[in-house]
Amino acid sequence: MTDAAEYQSRTIRPREHHFRGSLGRFATGVAIVTFDGVSKRHGITVNSFTSVSMEPPLVLASIARSTKAHNELAERPFTVNILGAEQQGLAMHFAGRPQATEPRWVEGQVAPRLANVLAFFECTPWAAYDGGDHTLYLGEVVDFSYRNGDALAFAHSRFTTIPESQLGMEDLL
Ligand SMILES: Cc1cc2nc3c(=O)[nH]c(=O)nc-3n(C[C@H](O)[C@H](O)[C@H](O)COP(=O)(O)O)c2cc1C
Repeated sequence: MTDAAEYQSRTIRPREHHFRGSLGRFATGVAIVTFDGVSKRHGITVNSFTSVSMEPPLVLASIARSTKAHNELAERPFTVNILGAEQQGLAMHFAGRPQATEPRWVEGQVAPRLANVLAFFECTPWAAYDGGDHTLYLGEVVDFSYRNGDALAFAHSRFTTIPESQLGMEDLL
């Protein structure tokens, strides 16, 4: 092992592992960004979804530059599909572990979306910002909806669920 590699395995890797572990303590929902690329339809599982602005209505997802579909997402409409508790298989399908059955698609107003998700936000491209080894893709929401049901969540690097019965603040917002 070279000095540099040894240094990396002793210092940077444990640090990166610890960084990921620390980030993993922030519990999130799970979403899939879907869009039509040049020659095929793409889906990328993300937990970096964030609401950004009410007026105009903006949302963002942070996409790793190493993801195959990263470049194709630039300046294209996309949908953020928020997953329900029973949709862990879909999350894995679009995280590089394709399932046997092809997901059911819905043709949205500006971008394709997935059938029966907990909520969706169809977006036209608003901006893309440099985010280190990721790009922050912001979209302006042009259509959205939701259904009732438990949410799929991700915490401590594991899937979990957030039961709907613990919710109910919506009328207060
Ligand atoms: C729960 C979960 C959350 C993820 N969140 C993100 C994310 O926010 N941004 C991202 O670029 N990749 C994220 N990924 C990884 C991508 O889903 C995965 O790298 C990508 O789909 C692989 O695509 P490719 O093999 O076609 O490049 C996440 C994966 C999982 C399972």
